[in-house]
Amino acid sequence: MKAVAIQEFGPAEGLRVIETPEPTPDTGQVLIETEAIGVGGVDAVIRRGTLGSYGFKPGHIPGSEVAGKVIAVGAGLDESLKGRRVWAFTGTGGGYAEKAVASDFLPIPETLTSEDAVAIGTSGAVSHFALAHAHFEAGESVLVRGAAGSIGVSAVQLAARNGAKNVAVTTSNHERGERLKKLGATEVLDRAGTGEGKYDVIIDLIAGPNLPDFFDKLNPNGRLVVVGVVGGMPLSDFAAKLLQNFQKSWSFMTFSADTVPREDLRRVRLEQFGDGMFKGIVHEILPLDQAALAHQKMDDGEVFGRIVLKP
Ligand SMILES: NC(=O)c1ccc[n+]([C@@H]2O[C@H](COP(=O)([O-])OP(=O)(O)OC[C@H]3O[C@@H](n4cnc5c(N)ncnc54)[C@H](OP(=O)(O)O)[C@@H]3O)[C@@H](O)[C@H]2O)c1
Repeated sequence: MKAVAIQEFGPAEGLRVIETPEPTPDTGQVLIETEAIGVGGVDAVIRRGTLGSYGFKPGHIPGSEVAGKVIAVGAGLDESLKGRRVWAFTGTGGGYAEKAVASDFLPIPETLTSEDAVAIGTSGAVSHFALAHAHFEAGESVLVRGAAGSIGVSAVQLAARNGAKNVAVTTSNHERGERLKKLGATEVLDRAGTGEGKYDVIIDLIAGPNLPDFFDKLNPNGRLVVVGVVGGMPLSDFAAKLLQNFQKSWSFMTFSADTVPREDLRRVRLEQFGDGMFKGIVHEILPLDQAALAHQKMDDGEVFGRIVLKP
């Protein structure tokens, strides 16, 4: 089968098309003929080689999220799954391929395309549980920092739908700000968050050295949750500002979907897949063999939502 592997860690051109034997489903796994493959920020982090210490080797096939048709099942699974269209999480790799195996999979309703399923699957659930982790409640004000990515566009929609008093976003790009307004944003800020607004909840996809500047944007009892580190690690003394502002009872948290029980993730994904109002934002659909171009577009900061590959 055709797949795309990281042959050299670093720039996007290190991603190359390869021929490789199709995988065999293990116990509890399905084999999926892929129709849509989500291109995620984590794939780019792995490709750049920054996660080298986790043991990724040249030849690694990236991709953690696919949708397509079940064509074979491993031991312990019902043969009737064959022919079903499913969304699946493939772990830290294996997705950029014509066929992929997974044990974590869900049926996709007729009303949802495979492309939309991979745009919603991870980002919708991460946003849902990140807001819950922040104890977000209707009537509170929310800032989504780094809102133009796949997680941010979901977080904006969910905060707005669930009764946020206002939803501010940061973005470097005017046009993306206008698109975020259509998804429910009420206030568009630059990447530095310039403005006088204060928020009860900040969903932060960026972190980086400017993280403490965003503590200043919290109301008393405000909560800032780091969900991603697109801007890199903060400085080691980043938390000093929290203690310097002790009287404001600010909270700093991190959130990873890895800590959410699998059954809870499944329940929320199924609700979101069946919810016609919640939109997956597909930036562009590219052929699988243009995975390097997809990564280049991500590196160039062009992407609003998610790029999807098609075999
Ligand atoms: N916690 C979890 O369970 C979980 C699960 C999956 C993924 N993640 C993580 O979530 C993060 C977000 O993923 P994503 O795919 O939504 O994001 P993304 O597309 O990689 O980035 C989001 C946005 O951040 C802005 N940005 C980029 N570089 C920046 C910088 N140096 N400073 C400030 N803003 C910058 C860009 O928008 P503008 O140009 O418009 O500013 C970009 O569109 C990633 O780190 C990913 O690994 C977390």
